[in-house]
Amino acid sequence: MAKLEIHQFPCLSDNYGVLIRDPEHGATAAIDAPDAKAVAAALADKGWRLTHILTTHHHGDHTAGNLPLKAETGCTILGPRAEAAKIPGLDTPLGDGDTFRFGAHEVRVLDTPGHTAGHISYWLPADKLAFVGDTLFAIGCGRVIEGNAQMMWRSLQKLMALPSETAVYCGHEYTQANAKFALTIEPDNEALQQRAKEVARLRAAGQPTLPTRMGEELATNPFLRPHVASIQKRLGLEGKPEWQIFGEIRERKNRS
Ligand SMILES: [Fe+2]
Repeated sequence: MAKLEIHQFPCLSDNYGVLIRDPEHGATAAIDAPDAKAVAAALADKGWRLTHILTTHHHGDHTAGNLPLKAETGCTILGPRAEAAKIPGLDTPLGDGDTFRFGAHEVRVLDTPGHTAGHISYWLPADKLAFVGDTLFAIGCGRVIEGNAQMMWRSLQKLMALPSETAVYCGHEYTQANAKFALTIEPDNEALQQRAKEVARLRAAGQPTLPTRMGEELATNPFLRPHVASIQKRLGLEGKPEWQIFGEIRERKNRS
């Protein structure tokens, strides 16, 4: 099996587009389509022909390119079954536990609701890759817009269970602001302090901070660390259920 080629590019104000390609089969997928022109330009840069769009959720900054790209390329659009009516051009509705082949590569679908009610993530176990849309961000997580804290926490737990070496691609470059907030929740976390410095260095150099790795998130992302005693103490929620502590961190981020 040939290694997947991956091309990540910034688009809109702070979104990322990602293209993946199986060079043996010529299959090329866009993970979400924030902007048709930016995706088309990235395809032209690489000399790749689009065959699929893998949609994570219905928000416009993830789906605006669907119809124009489909008209241009005839690509097949896959996306969340629970949001089928809201995904422009959807051909293949998907839900938790579904698997499919992208070229020679197995893709598993995980329901990760909370940011939106039907949000899905794509996991490629053999490639050690996950595309998590707006569920998990580097040192952060998506706003809980259509779900509740308990639902989002369950979704994050599914992602936390992926192997720690999994490369995680997220929908937005929010890492520097996330790091600043994270340090208010867990100021004494040395791994977080180091990472915040590295993130600042990368951003100052105009470099992306993504993909991240699951292991790095487990060590530095406060939203994934409600079990940590010092965090519970800081929030005055010692011994409370993890989803509730997660919910409090999310509320504080919303107000920050
Ligand atoms: Fe979103």
